[in-house]
Amino acid sequence: MSDTNVVEIDDIKFLNEQYLDQILKLQKIVIENLSDAASYYVEPVAFFRKQLTIENSVIGFFHNNQLVGFNVATFPGLDDDNIGMGFNFEASELLQVAQIGPAAVHPDYRNEKIFSKLAKEHIKVIEKLGYKHIFLTVAPNNYPTIKIFIDNGFRITQLKIKYNNLLRYILHFDFFNDFKQPKYSVRTPNTDIESQKFIFNLGFYGYNVLKNDNGFDIVFGHDGIKA
Ligand SMILES: CC(C)(COP(=O)(O)OP(=O)(O)OC[C@H]1O[C@@H](n2cnc3c(N)ncnc32)[C@H](O)[C@@H]1OP(=O)(O)O)[C@@H](O)C(=O)NCCC(=O)NCCS
Repeated sequence: MSDTNVVEIDDIKFLNEQYLDQILKLQKIVIENLSDAASYYVEPVAFFRKQLTIENSVIGFFHNNQLVGFNVATFPGLDDDNIGMGFNFEASELLQVAQIGPAAVHPDYRNEKIFSKLAKEHIKVIEKLGYKHIFLTVAPNNYPTIKIFIDNGFRITQLKIKYNNLLRYILHFDFFNDFKQPKYSVRTPNTDIESQKFIFNLGFYGYNVLKNDNGFDIVFGHDGIKA
């Protein structure tokens, strides 16, 4: 098979079908080492098989020629799993949606900014491809993922039950809408789900994440009521 759709960027490159086994092997190690099984939704093998045939969908990080991290971007079009449907996007807007995840880094390589680099690279490519929105779902206790995407300009816009009963934040990034500091802000522990439901209902969105003595807080902002 030809390797033409594999782009070299230092130790990061886009992956094709040849990498299916390496991804599944890495994912198996990641699953076996999860501190909270609910924080990672395991997609079926067919999902990876399909995404690996799509250009720019799966990006990998290599160390000594071994895959140690990956990130998947999907381009859902008008499929039911397009998160933009939950925002009442029209069809033309839905076609401009890219979604990020799943992603994983080998437990021996954590906290070395590998996922930060993969996410940044993938966001750049998604922008070059002309998409307007990026969505992703993340468990409210997944500090690294929330932190990385907040640092890249994403906002936490909803709290939902997804993937057969797993609680997830919906994170959104709009390439055409510059982030302004909100007019009002409140801070809650990430574990205080009931307060967050209330805050989301008032139109607040999460825009920062700050470590506290027990874990971390989400900082929510509101732009004020428009007259
Ligand atoms: C989420 C995951 C991909 C992050 O990978 P990573 O390469 O270790 O992340 P990074 O090194 O880029 O870290 C990003 C931030 O999180 C912090 N961080 C990373 N691991 C952490 C940990 N275990 N505890 C606290 N903070 C952590 C980093 O310090 C960094 O924050 P900073 O910018 O304030 O320094 C990895 O932890 C993983 O594979 N988890 C299991 C699967 C999963 O949850 N996937 C994502 C959902 S699909």
